[in-house]
Amino acid sequence: MPSESNSPRVAIPSSGRSLIAGQFVMTLLAIAMSLVAMLAGITNGIPQAYLDRRKEFIREETSMRLGADMKLNFREELVNHYLMVQKELAVEASRLTTEPYLASRHFFQVKEQIESTAIFDIISMMPKGGILHLHDASIVPLDWVIKTLTYLPDLYTKEREGITPRQFKFSKTPLRVTDGWRNVSELRAEMAMSDKNRSLDEVFMSEWSLYTPDPYNTYKSSNDMWNKFSDYFLTIPGLRSTLETAEMYLREALKGFYADGVMYVELRDGDLFDGDGLDLTDDYMCLVDRVVKDFQKTHPDFMGVKFILTGYRFFSEPMMQEQVDKVMARMRKFPDLVKGFDMDSHEDINHRIRFYLNALIKDDKSVMPFFFHAGETAWTQGADMNLVDAVLLNATRIGHGFAALKHPKVMQAIRDQGIVLEIQPISNQVLGLVDDQRNHPAASFIANNDRLVISSDDFALWDALPLSHDFYITFMGLGATKDDLRLLKKLAMNSIEYSTMTSAEKAVAMKIWQRRWKIFIDDVLTKYHLL
Ligand SMILES: *[C@@H]1O[C@H](CO)[C@@H](O)[C@H](O)[C@H]1NC(C)=O
Ligand SMILES: *[C@@H]1O[C@H](CO)[C@@H](O)[C@H](O)[C@H]1NC(C)=O
Ligand SMILES: *[C@@H]1O[C@H](CO)[C@@H](O)[C@H](O)[C@H]1NC(C)=O
Ligand SMILES: [Zn+2]
Repeated sequence: MPSESNSPRVAIPSSGRSLIAGQFVMTLLAIAMSLVAMLAGITNGIPQAYLDRRKEFIREETSMRLGADMKLNFREELVNHYLMVQKELAVEASRLTTEPYLASRHFFQVKEQIESTAIFDIISMMPKGGILHLHDASIVPLDWVIKTLTYLPDLYTKEREGITPRQFKFSKTPLRVTDGWRNVSELRAEMAMSDKNRSLDEVFMSEWSLYTPDPYNTYKSSNDMWNKFSDYFLTIPGLRSTLETAEMYLREALKGFYADGVMYVELRDGDLFDGDGLDLTDDYMCLVDRVVKDFQKTHPDFMGVKFILTGYRFFSEPMMQEQVDKVMARMRKFPDLVKGFDMDSHEDINHRIRFYLNALIKDDKSVMPFFFHAGETAWTQGADMNLVDAVLLNATRIGHGFAALKHPKVMQAIRDQGIVLEIQPISNQVLGLVDDQRNHPAASFIANNDRLVISSDDFALWDALPLSHDFYITFMGLGATKDDLRLLKKLAMNSIEYSTMTSAEKAVAMKIWQRRWKIFIDDVLTKYHLL
């Protein structure tokens, strides 16, 4: 019997809410008919040679997939079996009934349902290695930011464009109302007293979070989402514009990573300015080093934080040049912490990499590792041309590469040069690039065993966990129905292998991860009574 057969080996969940009696009978009928067809298939006089070739063809293609080379021991196989029964239940329920397939829907519409599944629970227990693509100002849940940072004393806010409080500044000396500044604690009290029943905290949350129960109607265009997204990054820096608040924020972030099974992170951005525009970045780098070492005292298997410092695509060319020089200097000053350079901002509307080539190509810059955001677009031969420059500039990794599949020569260069793709499925969906995650272009990268890692970009803005939700979507949506624990294991290991850690650091990290993985397998066996 062909191994890819569609036979429903598992029962359809009786809890299928939308499954009315008539449909259920139809479903049974469908199952019975497919069984009959299958049995007929092998006694139908099809030449055995054809069936053998077919079987071999499928075996070979399956062996080309990401994770196919992973081996599982007996205990892992037990966990894998349970995981795959759960996966098949979800797939079959969706295929044969009206039960929606969660990974095919918009994340905002199914987030809670995803969280109630055993697969998500197991993934959230899993040591997932590192996250290699994150933005420094969106790594802590917004609840915490609002409940903690906006309640600190001496905080002022200013409206921008007459709408809602946007800009923030800490100041020991009172800032003047005539200059547009409001004392946040007074403003909060005032709003609580007024008949408008929205509290200041609710205003903050609705201004910053991209989350909405009705994403397709709330955001009519990709620029609707990007505008809100970009506003967030103009607003939040004021709340972490002192070394004290940046430290509070970082400590909270580390706790969140650790709790989600993330043991290492690489952050984009990293420049820190105080309320008056004074550059605190060097102090911040020292702070990060100190806080991480401190965190490691209580969490010895946390492997650290590194930075890929960033320029922005709305910079003028001289500004970008200056930023490149600063990053070079910081790489020399903090060699363990600062690992390279990226350029960020909405690709469709800002300058392309091409615009900055003079700043990027210099003899002494050839040592500068690049980690460009490139091809985070749905257009072809538009902003995706950034991919061409990313490969010609010998990028170490590419952020997103969403459009890369449309460029055969770029794909070839990515493969030949060993460039790693940082895939971020939920970010891509939230920003409007993909609807049904089974159609995410990285489904093809997984099928081709391309070098890739799964990251979460700005998970706090859509109320996701650091990595569990993106892992779930990858496993259930981008992966094949039959991709199993080996895919997840491979993704975790890739995140260490393709990080900017030194080879000595990687060796330590891999040991630690393996120990954690063993514990994870034991924990799942116990929790789900699989032994
Ligand atoms: C802000 O307002 C609160 C509440 O009225 C007050 O206690 C605090 O002193 C004010 N802060 C400044 C810096 O004026
Ligand atoms: C706010 O007030 C309006 C009108 O009084 C009411 O319809 C609405 O439910 C209230 N919202 C909340 C969150 O209390
Ligand atoms: C990229 O690498 C190739 C091959 O090593 C080299 O010839 C080329 O000069 C590099 N390009 C840049 C911009 O460093
Ligand atoms: Zn990004």
